[in-house]
Amino acid sequence: MLDIKKVQNVDLDYLTHVIESGKYDEEIFKIADETRKKYVGEEVHLRAIIEFSNVCTQHCLYCGLRADNKNLQRYRMSPEEIIERARLIAKLGIKTIVLQSGEDPYYTTEIISHLITEIKKLDVAITLSIGEREFEEYRIWKELGADRYLMRHETASPELYAKLHPGDSFENRKAHLYELKRLGYETGAGFMVGLPGQTAYDLALDLAFLKELDADMIGIGPFIPNPDTPLKDAKGGDLQTTLRMIALARIVVPTANIPATTALGSINPLGRQYGLKYGANVIMPNLTPNPYRPNYSLYPGKICLFERDTACVECTKQMIRSVGLVVGEGYGHRKKIEMNE
Ligand code: 5AD
Ligand code: FES
Repeated sequence: MLDIKKVQNVDLDYLTHVIESGKYDEEIFKIADETRKKYVGEEVHLRAIIEFSNVCTQHCLYCGLRADNKNLQRYRMSPEEIIERARLIAKLGIKTIVLQSGEDPYYTTEIISHLITEIKKLDVAITLSIGEREFEEYRIWKELGADRYLMRHETASPELYAKLHPGDSFENRKAHLYELKRLGYETGAGFMVGLPGQTAYDLALDLAFLKELDADMIGIGPFIPNPDTPLKDAKGGDLQTTLRMIALARIVVPTANIPATTALGSINPLGRQYGLKYGANVIMPNLTPNPYRPNYSLYPGKICLFERDTACVECTKQMIRSVGLVVGEGYGHRKKIEMNE
């Protein structure tokens, strides 16, 4: 039997055992589904993502956008193109727009500010996912109306973090995430499963970090080796372990918004459906316009390429219904814990 209290209290040794053995999955999945239902209900929220630039100054060893990758056609959408896309998304009735890019300094404080000001006129929540920026920029953008910021912590093992991110440290990443929280952003962290050298203990640390931060959003996906990166020969994450981690994240941070990630759907055609069954309550349809979409190539086999620009909206709604859940209608902000629970 699973000792649920030890999981909730992020007992590291116990979690390591649970993650490594895999023998509690049936129980974990069932509890995660019940926890999802109790704390965030039956609504699954749509977050339309615009991947507006694949230019990146960073060198993350796993990522196809890394600066050294010369096999990638780079693009930048103009502010007008981005705002035009946002208008289309708002017309489709989606209430959250995620602006994501590589770490691309072309988009200055002022350009991002302009995007926020214009897009907020559409009555949508805005999530920024543009990597590490100056604290002062986070402050300005929050004041202009940005609601949320996604920045996965990638791994909570300081040693592994340092190996994967030349010139950066887990300490620094943590400082950014805490600053975003302090400024009042709904803050998203998260990690990859199956990174080279990653142990079950490291994954337990990931859960402990999510709880310590009180992450409002939690993105978890399998690592998928990219042939155009130094990790091309690594093994990558599997479906079962990734689902186990999503389910454990739901149990550890019950009110968090947790997506069934695109990477999960890319390693298995039903990956996202399983995610929604085992704790996830968010899905992120891809609304990056063509011809740019195929070039936002973080990893090979990424789904939703070459589709009609807006096909993912209907597809994800259908997916939500197919697992017996309901398409969310509001902004889908994080639910606050009810004190009488
Ligand atoms: N496999 C899986 N996920 C990846 N990401 C980047 N590269 C890969 C890869 N090769 C994830 C990172 C990042 C998010 C946008 O995509 O976790 O935060
Ligand atoms: Fe993109 Fe199904 S979600 S095609």
